[in-house]
Amino acid sequence: MSGIIEKIQRLKNEQNAVILAHNYQPGEIQDLADFTGDSLELSRKAAKCKAEKIVFCGVLFMAETASILSPEKAVLLPEIAAGCPMADMINAEQLTELKNKYPDAVVVCYVNSTAEVKALSNYCCTSSNAIAVVSAIETGRQIIFVPDKNLGAFVKERTGRDIILWPGYCPTHVVSTATEVQSVQRAHPEAITLAHPECCPEVRGCADELLSTSEMLRFAEENDAKEFIIATERGIIHTLKKLCPDKNFYLAAEKFICPNMKKITLEKVLFSLEDNKYVIKVPEEIAEKARLALDRMISILPKG
Ligand code: 13P
Ligand code: SF4
Repeated sequence: MSGIIEKIQRLKNEQNAVILAHNYQPGEIQDLADFTGDSLELSRKAAKCKAEKIVFCGVLFMAETASILSPEKAVLLPEIAAGCPMADMINAEQLTELKNKYPDAVVVCYVNSTAEVKALSNYCCTSSNAIAVVSAIETGRQIIFVPDKNLGAFVKERTGRDIILWPGYCPTHVVSTATEVQSVQRAHPEAITLAHPECCPEVRGCADELLSTSEMLRFAEENDAKEFIIATERGIIHTLKKLCPDKNFYLAAEKFICPNMKKITLEKVLFSLEDNKYVIKVPEEIAEKARLALDRMISILPKG
């Protein structure tokens, strides 16, 4: 295995490339990466870094976002079939129809969406800033939120805003049930439960905190508690354990696994650098409009 890692490091240096990995990636990919993070952190890192090439270890919408924000860089996704089923739950035609039905509404799209959907949206958001983005919209305006009904409902609850939801969902997050989470809670009564807002309402109702993946990492590091129940994709447990070796983490449900995130392997990262594949390039006429939605999101966030 170390032979592969050495080859990757050599090619990476020769090509002035940087490897970014999402918090759900397999442990060995996270360990290899130059930067790990949630969707927002990785898009910002992609935009800021000086590399000529980005190997994006995540799913298609993340690589597309990196390409939109850094059109001058070559963005590679090591496995072209690593998509996000939730992102594909609304397309440009469906969003256009919805916009025609509510012509005065402001459109907010979750970053887990296609570039075409971003191009038709006023604002983009991620799970770590969805509340801030929606709160920044003029009071009284109706808001269309796509594609995740669970993140959308969470934002609606927290902000009290008039939000029209789209019935999209994350197949990985919605499989967990409150019964499963409560059984893990009974086994570890002292533990704090952290859930991703993509979970269904019943699971969100069992959680102590609803957080994005990187917010979970920060929370576990800063909180004095020694035990945490984690209701999100299992890849994050690897980073949590590395970050807090003296604390215990329990997955809230066995089925928390995103098959698409797990399609990236060390071999595929190597092939990606060797054969320059798969290049993710969003056509400029779409990228230009999608960039506006992403820039509006970035402009309302604290600098960082
Ligand atoms: P984060 O933005 O919290 O990393 O989440 C991305 C994602 O795909 C969650 O399923
Ligand atoms: Fe998409 Fe869900 Fe996988 Fe995140 S965990 S990439 S939302 S399918």
